[in-house]
Amino acid sequence: MNAASTPRRVENLATDRGVIPQYATGVVEQPWGSYSRSDHAVWATLFKRQRELLPGRACTTFLANQQALAMSEDAIPRFDQLNRHLRAATGWELVGVEGLLPEAVFFEHLAQRRFPVTWWIRRPDQLDYIAEPDLFHDLYGHVPLLMNPVFADYMQAYGAGGLRAQREFGDEALLNLTRLYWYTVEFGLIREPAGLRIYGAGIVSSKGESIYSLEAPAPNRIGFGLERVMRTRYRIDSYQKTYFVIDDFESLFAATQQDFAPIYARVAGATSVTAGSVLDSDAAIHLDSREDWPTGADN
Ligand code: PHE
Ligand code: CO
Repeated sequence: MNAASTPRRVENLATDRGVIPQYATGVVEQPWGSYSRSDHAVWATLFKRQRELLPGRACTTFLANQQALAMSEDAIPRFDQLNRHLRAATGWELVGVEGLLPEAVFFEHLAQRRFPVTWWIRRPDQLDYIAEPDLFHDLYGHVPLLMNPVFADYMQAYGAGGLRAQREFGDEALLNLTRLYWYTVEFGLIREPAGLRIYGAGIVSSKGESIYSLEAPAPNRIGFGLERVMRTRYRIDSYQKTYFVIDDFESLFAATQQDFAPIYARVAGATSVTAGSVLDSDAAIHLDSREDWPTGADN
Protein backbone atom coordinates (compact mmCIF):
# COMPACT_ATOMS: atom_id res chain seq x y z
CA MET A 1 0.00 0.00 0.00
CA ASN A 2 1.46 3.40 -0.95
CA ALA A 3 1.15 6.69 0.89
CA ALA A 4 -1.51 8.05 -1.44
CA SER A 5 -3.89 5.28 -0.45
CA THR A 6 -3.28 5.48 3.30
CA PRO A 7 -6.72 5.68 4.90
CA ARG A 8 -7.91 8.72 6.81
CA ARG A 9 -7.71 9.17 10.53
CA VAL A 10 -11.19 10.33 11.46
CA GLU A 11 -11.29 11.92 14.92
CA ASN A 12 -13.60 14.15 16.92
CA LEU A 13 -13.86 17.79 16.01
CA ALA A 14 -13.13 20.01 19.00
CA THR A 15 -15.13 23.23 18.65
CA ASP A 16 -15.95 26.09 20.99
CA ARG A 17 -19.34 24.48 21.52
CA GLY A 18 -17.86 21.14 22.53
CA VAL A 19 -16.71 17.97 20.86
CA ILE A 20 -18.56 16.85 17.75
CA PRO A 21 -18.19 13.18 16.83
CA GLN A 22 -17.26 12.47 13.23
CA TYR A 23 -18.36 9.34 11.41
CA ALA A 24 -16.79 7.31 8.61
CA THR A 25 -18.53 4.44 6.87
CA GLY A 26 -16.02 2.55 4.73
CA VAL A 27 -13.86 -0.51 5.36
CA VAL A 28 -10.12 -0.02 4.82
CA GLU A 29 -7.08 -2.25 4.54
CA GLN A 30 -4.86 -1.94 7.62
CA PRO A 31 -1.92 0.17 6.38
CA TRP A 32 0.50 -1.77 8.57
CA GLY A 33 3.62 -0.52 6.80
CA SER A 34 2.68 3.10 7.48
CA TYR A 35 2.79 2.84 11.28
CA SER A 36 5.63 4.94 12.66
CA ARG A 37 8.09 3.95 15.36
CA SER A 38 6.11 6.18 17.66
CA ASP A 39 2.88 4.29 16.83
CA HIS A 40 4.51 0.96 17.70
CA ALA A 41 5.99 2.50 20.86
CA VAL A 42 2.54 3.68 21.99
CA TRP A 43 1.24 0.14 21.50
CA ALA A 44 4.18 -1.30 23.48
CA THR A 45 3.74 1.14 26.36
CA LEU A 46 0.01 0.49 26.69
CA PHE A 47 0.43 -3.26 26.22
CA LYS A 48 3.07 -3.54 28.96
CA ARG A 49 1.10 -1.36 31.34
CA GLN A 50 -2.00 -3.53 31.07
CA ARG A 51 0.02 -6.75 31.21
CA GLU A 52 1.17 -5.70 34.66
CA LEU A 53 -2.33 -4.87 35.83
CA LEU A 54 -4.68 -7.43 34.36
CA PRO A 55 -3.68 -10.80 35.82
CA GLY A 56 -6.06 -11.21 38.76
CA ARG A 57 -8.26 -8.37 37.47
CA ALA A 58 -9.37 -9.34 33.95
CA CYS A 59 -11.57 -12.42 33.60
CA THR A 60 -9.89 -15.72 32.79
CA THR A 61 -11.32 -15.95 29.26
CA PHE A 62 -9.86 -12.53 28.40
CA LEU A 63 -6.41 -13.48 29.66
CA ALA A 64 -6.37 -16.92 28.06
CA ASN A 65 -7.63 -15.71 24.69
CA GLN A 66 -5.24 -12.82 24.56
CA GLN A 67 -2.45 -15.37 24.84
CA ALA A 68 -4.04 -17.53 22.18
CA LEU A 69 -4.10 -14.52 19.83
CA ALA A 70 -0.36 -14.08 20.34
CA MET A 71 -0.53 -10.32 20.73
CA SER A 72 2.75 -8.97 22.03
CA GLU A 73 4.43 -5.73 22.94
CA ASP A 74 6.80 -6.05 19.97
CA ALA A 75 4.60 -4.39 17.38
CA ILE A 76 1.05 -3.38 16.52
CA PRO A 77 -0.65 -6.66 15.57
CA ARG A 78 -1.59 -7.33 11.98
CA PHE A 79 -5.34 -7.72 11.51
CA ASP A 80 -4.87 -10.57 9.04
CA GLN A 81 -2.84 -12.58 11.54
CA LEU A 82 -5.42 -12.10 14.27
CA ASN A 83 -8.10 -13.06 11.77
CA ARG A 84 -6.59 -16.51 11.32
CA HIS A 85 -7.07 -17.23 15.01
CA LEU A 86 -10.49 -15.61 15.14
CA ARG A 87 -11.93 -17.35 12.10
CA ALA A 88 -10.80 -20.70 13.46
CA ALA A 89 -12.18 -20.08 16.95
CA THR A 90 -15.54 -18.42 16.33
CA GLY A 91 -15.84 -17.39 12.67
CA TRP A 92 -15.42 -13.70 13.47
CA GLU A 93 -13.14 -11.40 11.49
CA LEU A 94 -11.76 -7.93 12.02
CA VAL A 95 -12.27 -5.19 9.44
CA GLY A 96 -10.33 -1.91 9.45
CA VAL A 97 -12.24 1.36 9.79
CA GLU A 98 -11.26 5.04 9.87
CA GLY A 99 -13.21 6.08 12.95
CA LEU A 100 -16.66 5.84 14.52
CA LEU A 101 -19.30 4.18 12.39
CA PRO A 102 -22.91 5.26 12.00
CA GLU A 103 -25.10 2.95 14.08
CA ALA A 104 -26.66 1.07 11.15
CA VAL A 105 -23.27 0.27 9.64
CA PHE A 106 -21.95 -0.90 13.00
CA PHE A 107 -24.94 -3.18 13.60
CA GLU A 108 -24.63 -4.65 10.10
CA HIS A 109 -20.97 -5.58 10.68
CA LEU A 110 -21.72 -7.26 14.01
CA ALA A 111 -24.67 -9.15 12.58
CA GLN A 112 -22.26 -10.54 9.95
CA ARG A 113 -19.65 -11.46 12.60
CA ARG A 114 -17.32 -8.68 11.48
CA PHE A 115 -15.78 -6.50 14.18
CA PRO A 116 -14.73 -2.99 13.08
CA VAL A 117 -11.31 -1.95 14.37
CA THR A 118 -9.96 1.58 14.06
CA TRP A 119 -6.73 1.29 12.03
CA TRP A 120 -4.91 4.19 13.79
CA ILE A 121 -3.52 4.35 17.31
CA ARG A 122 -3.65 7.26 19.77
CA ARG A 123 -0.78 9.74 20.04
CA PRO A 124 1.79 9.63 22.88
CA ASP A 125 0.02 12.53 24.60
CA GLN A 126 -3.23 10.51 24.68
CA LEU A 127 -1.96 7.44 26.57
CA ASP A 128 -4.38 7.85 29.47
CA TYR A 129 -7.42 9.25 27.74
CA ILE A 130 -8.84 9.57 24.27
CA ALA A 131 -12.45 10.48 23.53
CA GLU A 132 -13.04 8.01 20.71
CA PRO A 133 -12.06 4.38 20.23
CA ASP A 134 -8.62 3.86 18.68
CA LEU A 135 -6.72 0.71 17.69
CA PHE A 136 -5.57 0.00 21.23
CA HIS A 137 -9.07 0.05 22.66
CA ASP A 138 -10.61 -1.89 19.78
CA LEU A 139 -7.93 -4.56 19.42
CA TYR A 140 -6.62 -5.01 22.90
CA GLY A 141 -9.97 -4.48 24.59
CA HIS A 142 -12.52 -6.20 22.36
CA VAL A 143 -10.81 -8.89 20.32
CA PRO A 144 -9.90 -11.44 23.04
CA LEU A 145 -13.55 -11.97 23.99
CA LEU A 146 -14.53 -12.51 20.35
CA MET A 147 -12.57 -15.78 20.69
CA ASN A 148 -15.13 -16.96 23.28
CA PRO A 149 -17.96 -18.84 21.51
CA VAL A 150 -20.77 -17.62 23.78
CA PHE A 151 -19.64 -14.01 23.82
CA ALA A 152 -19.13 -14.19 20.04
CA ASP A 153 -22.78 -15.23 19.64
CA TYR A 154 -23.91 -12.46 21.97
CA MET A 155 -22.14 -9.84 19.86
CA GLN A 156 -23.71 -11.12 16.67
CA ALA A 157 -27.16 -11.25 18.29
CA TYR A 158 -26.63 -7.68 19.47
CA GLY A 159 -25.96 -6.52 15.90
CA ALA A 160 -29.02 -8.32 14.58
CA GLY A 161 -31.07 -6.91 17.45
CA GLY A 162 -29.86 -3.40 16.59
CA LEU A 163 -30.95 -3.78 12.98
CA ARG A 164 -34.33 -5.01 14.15
CA ALA A 165 -34.70 -2.12 16.59
CA GLN A 166 -33.96 0.38 13.82
CA ARG A 167 -36.54 -1.20 11.54
CA GLU A 168 -39.28 -1.78 14.07
CA PHE A 169 -38.89 0.29 17.21
CA GLY A 170 -37.02 3.57 16.74
CA ASP A 171 -34.79 5.83 18.79
CA GLU A 172 -35.85 4.93 22.29
CA ALA A 173 -35.22 1.23 21.72
CA LEU A 174 -31.83 2.10 20.22
CA LEU A 175 -30.92 4.07 23.32
CA ASN A 176 -31.89 1.05 25.46
CA LEU A 177 -29.60 -1.12 23.34
CA THR A 178 -26.76 1.37 23.57
CA ARG A 179 -27.02 1.23 27.35
CA LEU A 180 -26.93 -2.58 27.24
CA TYR A 181 -23.77 -2.47 25.12
CA TRP A 182 -22.23 0.16 27.36
CA TYR A 183 -22.82 -1.71 30.62
CA THR A 184 -21.82 -5.13 29.24
CA VAL A 185 -19.45 -5.08 26.26
CA GLU A 186 -17.71 -1.87 27.34
CA PHE A 187 -17.95 -1.74 31.15
CA GLY A 188 -19.06 -5.16 32.35
CA LEU A 189 -17.81 -7.05 35.40
CA ILE A 190 -18.16 -10.81 35.89
CA ARG A 191 -18.24 -12.98 38.98
CA GLU A 192 -15.56 -15.65 39.12
CA PRO A 193 -14.80 -18.14 41.90
CA ALA A 194 -11.84 -16.00 42.99
CA GLY A 195 -13.84 -12.75 43.00
CA LEU A 196 -15.05 -10.00 40.68
CA ARG A 197 -13.24 -9.70 37.36
CA ILE A 198 -13.37 -7.35 34.37
CA TYR A 199 -14.63 -8.29 30.93
CA GLY A 200 -15.61 -4.86 29.54
CA ALA A 201 -13.34 -3.55 26.78
CA GLY A 202 -13.58 0.03 28.00
CA ILE A 203 -12.12 -1.07 31.32
CA VAL A 204 -9.38 -3.46 30.20
CA SER A 205 -8.04 -0.85 27.80
CA SER A 206 -7.81 1.78 30.57
CA LYS A 207 -5.12 1.72 33.23
CA GLY A 208 -7.04 3.86 35.68
CA GLU A 209 -10.40 2.18 35.30
CA SER A 210 -8.88 -1.34 35.52
CA ILE A 211 -8.08 -0.51 39.13
CA TYR A 212 -11.00 1.79 39.89
CA SER A 213 -13.76 -0.52 38.65
CA LEU A 214 -12.74 -3.31 41.05
CA GLU A 215 -11.06 -1.58 43.95
CA ALA A 216 -12.41 1.94 44.42
CA PRO A 217 -15.01 2.33 47.16
CA ALA A 218 -16.99 4.90 45.17
CA PRO A 219 -18.85 3.01 42.43
CA ASN A 220 -21.89 0.76 42.81
CA ARG A 221 -21.46 -2.83 41.75
CA ILE A 222 -24.87 -4.31 41.09
CA GLY A 223 -26.05 -7.68 39.78
CA PHE A 224 -26.98 -7.51 36.09
CA GLY A 225 -30.64 -7.16 35.22
CA LEU A 226 -31.65 -6.64 31.61
CA GLU A 227 -34.38 -4.06 32.14
CA ARG A 228 -32.46 -2.34 34.90
CA VAL A 229 -29.54 -1.83 32.53
CA MET A 230 -31.74 -0.70 29.66
CA ARG A 231 -33.16 2.03 31.90
CA THR A 232 -29.83 3.25 33.24
CA ARG A 233 -28.15 6.39 31.94
CA TYR A 234 -24.37 6.50 31.69
CA ARG A 235 -21.44 8.88 31.65
CA ILE A 236 -18.95 9.15 28.86
CA ASP A 237 -16.69 11.70 30.56
CA SER A 238 -15.66 9.88 33.75
CA TYR A 239 -15.22 6.45 35.24
CA GLN A 240 -18.57 4.70 35.69
CA LYS A 241 -20.69 5.33 38.77
CA THR A 242 -22.23 1.89 38.48
CA TYR A 243 -20.90 -1.41 37.16
CA PHE A 244 -23.23 -4.32 36.46
CA VAL A 245 -21.99 -7.80 37.32
CA ILE A 246 -22.91 -10.89 35.31
CA ASP A 247 -22.59 -14.48 36.60
CA ASP A 248 -21.26 -15.85 33.30
CA PHE A 249 -21.55 -15.25 29.56
CA GLU A 250 -24.14 -17.99 29.18
CA SER A 251 -26.60 -16.21 31.45
CA LEU A 252 -25.96 -12.85 29.75
CA PHE A 253 -26.64 -14.43 26.37
CA ALA A 254 -29.70 -16.28 27.70
CA ALA A 255 -31.17 -13.04 29.10
CA THR A 256 -31.00 -11.42 25.66
CA GLN A 257 -32.51 -14.33 23.71
CA GLN A 258 -36.08 -13.35 24.53
CA ASP A 259 -38.11 -11.05 22.29
CA PHE A 260 -37.29 -7.47 23.25
CA ALA A 261 -40.54 -5.97 21.89
CA PRO A 262 -42.43 -6.12 25.21
CA ILE A 263 -39.28 -5.06 27.07
CA TYR A 264 -38.81 -1.95 24.93
CA ALA A 265 -42.45 -1.11 25.60
CA ARG A 266 -42.08 -1.53 29.37
CA VAL A 267 -38.83 0.44 29.53
CA ALA A 268 -40.39 3.24 27.46
CA GLY A 269 -43.08 3.54 30.11
CA ALA A 270 -40.64 3.59 33.03
CA THR A 271 -38.50 6.49 34.17
CA SER A 272 -34.80 6.30 33.41
CA VAL A 273 -32.35 5.74 36.26
CA THR A 274 -29.42 8.10 36.72
CA ALA A 275 -25.95 6.59 36.50
CA GLY A 276 -25.32 6.49 40.23
CA SER A 277 -28.74 5.53 41.59
CA VAL A 278 -29.39 2.42 43.63
CA LEU A 279 -32.90 0.95 43.62
CA ASP A 280 -34.54 -1.16 46.33
CA SER A 281 -34.78 -4.02 43.86
CA ASP A 282 -31.04 -3.99 43.07
CA ALA A 283 -28.86 -6.97 43.89
CA ALA A 284 -26.14 -4.86 45.43
CA ILE A 285 -22.65 -6.29 45.58
CA HIS A 286 -21.05 -3.11 46.74
CA LEU A 287 -22.74 0.22 47.34
CA ASP A 288 -20.96 3.41 46.63
CA SER A 289 -19.33 5.89 48.91
CA ARG A 290 -19.99 8.58 46.28
CA GLU A 291 -16.48 9.86 46.58
CA ASP A 292 -15.38 12.39 43.99
CA TRP A 293 -18.35 11.87 41.73
CA PRO A 294 -18.77 14.43 38.98
CA THR A 295 -21.96 16.43 39.12
CA GLY A 296 -24.07 17.45 36.13
CA ALA A 297 -26.25 15.49 33.77
CA ASP A 298 -25.62 11.91 32.71
CA ASN A 299 -26.12 10.80 29.14
N1 PHE B 1 -33.50 -10.54 21.60
C1 PHE B 1 -33.36 -9.20 21.06
C2 PHE B 1 -34.61 -8.82 20.23
O1 PHE B 1 -35.61 -9.50 20.23
C3 PHE B 1 -32.10 -9.07 20.20
C4 PHE B 1 -30.85 -8.89 21.01
C5 PHE B 1 -30.01 -9.96 21.30
C6 PHE B 1 -30.49 -7.64 21.47
C7 PHE B 1 -28.85 -9.78 22.03
C8 PHE B 1 -29.33 -7.45 22.19
C9 PHE B 1 -28.51 -8.52 22.48
O2 PHE B 1 -34.64 -7.80 19.62
CO1 CO C 1 -15.38 -0.28 22.43
